[in-house]
Amino acid sequence: MKVLITGANGMVARAAAEHCREIGDDVAALTRAEMDIADAEQVDETFARLRPEAVLNCAAYTDVDGAETHEAESRAANTAGVGNLAAAAAKYGARFVTISTDYVFDGANTGFYTQRDTPNPKGVYAVTKYEGERLATGRNAASIVVRSGWIYGHGGTNFLSVMHRLLGEGKPIKAIHDAYGTPTFAGDLARRLRELAELDLPCIFHVTNSGPGTSYLGFAEAVCEIGGFDRGLITPVSNDSLSRPAPRPASSKLACLFSERFGLAPMPDWKDGIKRFLESEKG
Ligand SMILES: NC(=O)c1ccc[n+]([C@@H]2O[C@H](COP(=O)([O-])OP(=O)(O)OC[C@H]3O[C@@H](n4cnc5c(N)ncnc54)[C@H](OP(=O)(O)O)[C@@H]3O)[C@@H](O)[C@H]2O)c1
Repeated sequence: MKVLITGANGMVARAAAEHCREIGDDVAALTRAEMDIADAEQVDETFARLRPEAVLNCAAYTDVDGAETHEAESRAANTAGVGNLAAAAAKYGARFVTISTDYVFDGANTGFYTQRDTPNPKGVYAVTKYEGERLATGRNAASIVVRSGWIYGHGGTNFLSVMHRLLGEGKPIKAIHDAYGTPTFAGDLARRLRELAELDLPCIFHVTNSGPGTSYLGFAEAVCEIGGFDRGLITPVSNDSLSRPAPRPASSKLACLFSERFGLAPMPDWKDGIKRFLESEKG
């Protein structure tokens, strides 16, 4: 399949490009410099030139705290950019898969959020991502929206992606004990994005590794258990103690109503994801 991947320098984009190349796709992975998704003209020109059969939109403004003071940038990528890609995909007949976030939910539900739950995003990043979901389906009814959360992987700069390095260097880390989510290895998400492009069912999917969900503290403890690091390096802290600019859901565990009904295999277990991540980081 001829696949266009956006935001090519990003963590999920890299995993998606690697997976698609491995399975023999003709991959065009474009950085922001090569295609700014917020620029409708540039997006249209790129689609006209490359004629992709499928688009995996991994580009986004992902600085959750920064979005509070950079609303225009967040909206440009997370809303307008998604709309531009959705419209171009409809015009040029490409399948369109775009990634959204568990942060569309407010966190009041301590169980699993499914597609039956009504989003109530808090904070600029979350609001602009949700607006992106709506624009995607509004401009292109065939859009496939993939909500994921707590993603970690190679090249990632978020806490979940770097903590093993700090622990490996014997450095102490702080891990939140009272915020819960469903961790997702970028490599597993990438594989599922490609499967969903193949399946071509316009729908909202929730894609995370399987398991009961955990806290940041639970994730850090699992990394210690699997990687053989010293648990004593972890200091549990509360969500509130960090006083970050953007609100975050206290619990945003995701479950999918559709994937298995549509014949997709269950996602790998979350600890298995960590194990494969740590093994592959060793090279
Ligand atoms: N990481 C998580 O835990 C998490 C959780 C839930 C959902 N998600 C979603 O998963 C997707 C992938 O996230 P990620 O963690 O891989 O993000 P990431 O590593 O921050 O990568 C995002 C990429 O998008 C690029 N980008 C930003 N604005 C762009 C634009 N206007 N045009 C083209 N490219 C642009 C960035 O380029 P620059 O480097 O040049 O800015 C960056 O390379 C995003 O939709 C994100 O919202 C992530």
